[in-house]
Amino acid sequence: MADTPGSRILVTGALGQIGTELTETLRERYGADAVVASDVRDLPDHPCVVGGPYRNLSVIDADAFDRVVVEEGIGTVYHLAAILSATGEKKPELCERINVGGTVTVLEAARKHSLRVYAPSSIAVFGPDAPKHAPQECTLNPTTTYGKTKVTGERLAMNYWKQYGVDVRGIRYPGLVSYKAPAGGGTTDYAVDIFHHALETGHYDCFVRGDTRLPMMYMADAIRATIALMDAPVEAIGTARGGYNISGCSFTATELAEAVGARVSGFTCDFLPDVRQKYADSWPDSVDDEAAQADWGWVAEYDLEAMCDAMIAGLQSSSI
Ligand code: NAD
Ligand code: SER
Repeated sequence: MADTPGSRILVTGALGQIGTELTETLRERYGADAVVASDVRDLPDHPCVVGGPYRNLSVIDADAFDRVVVEEGIGTVYHLAAILSATGEKKPELCERINVGGTVTVLEAARKHSLRVYAPSSIAVFGPDAPKHAPQECTLNPTTTYGKTKVTGERLAMNYWKQYGVDVRGIRYPGLVSYKAPAGGGTTDYAVDIFHHALETGHYDCFVRGDTRLPMMYMADAIRATIALMDAPVEAIGTARGGYNISGCSFTATELAEAVGARVSGFTCDFLPDVRQKYADSWPDSVDDEAAQADWGWVAEYDLEAMCDAMIAGLQSSSI
């Protein structure tokens, strides 16, 4: 029997690339005390630890998770704790344990305590047989362990909704580009790293080929999409609830290097593909986000040029 949910928000994986900015945004919106940040790491000076309540918590410890939900009076979980693609291919067992096991922990707690859940998916759900402009619905045959865990996450979301009425929603985030927290071991990290290297040394060795095109998004758009999806009335949420495609901008690594070069004088970039090229090649170039537009009004604001301006301004102001 489900009990009555609390009213506070719990963010798992809050010290990561997305959690850092999502926690900050949620605290601005609801008040610092209403948002409990959590992560398996201990980083006492991190803004999410300093800026409000923080719990050290592993999402694969179901008993501890349950305790925190009750003690903190939680009603909604933003479940961001995960192992990303590049680390996941090096440690596939860990990737499955955290990504699938952690999601089951959160969904089971949601079932017991009537929680609402946000659990993101990824463009990594698509495999090499998907159309290069990936539709919302097609056969999902990912070749990476990470992608497989994300397909399982989407299916779990739909099952918990249908079987138990747990209101769990997710977005298939594109590669996310941001400056406030480092990217966490993904294939799309080159689109973040390039800005740091350009400003620090004037040169970047990019680990994918120049013609590699992937769906990408500036973090401000991703945070806005996350909040919009969770704000949408339950009747608006359709069959894509486990993982909505959302489109931001799509560009090749060469186009990105040229856009950075147009802003950082003397910048040079070499393309030296490593094992991550294979993961990037298995993903689409862009995604069709008609379902997100129709169901909860999704429209991106940042194109490649606006994203580059924001990244460089952000990095320059944070280094002052
Ligand atoms: P990240 O690697 O930056 O952060 C993940 C956080 O999870 C880290 O702070 C890590 O310490 C924490 N964590 C790892 N194991 C944990 C455990 N057992 N218990 C609790 N915390 C644990 O990742 P991110 O980029 O912030 O990604 C968040 C979510 O968004 C993930 O589900 C990821 O798959 C998804 N996503 C991210 C991107 C992207 O480009 N960043 C794209 C698509 C999907
Ligand atoms: N940005 C993520 C990664 O590269 C995709 O989910 O792993």
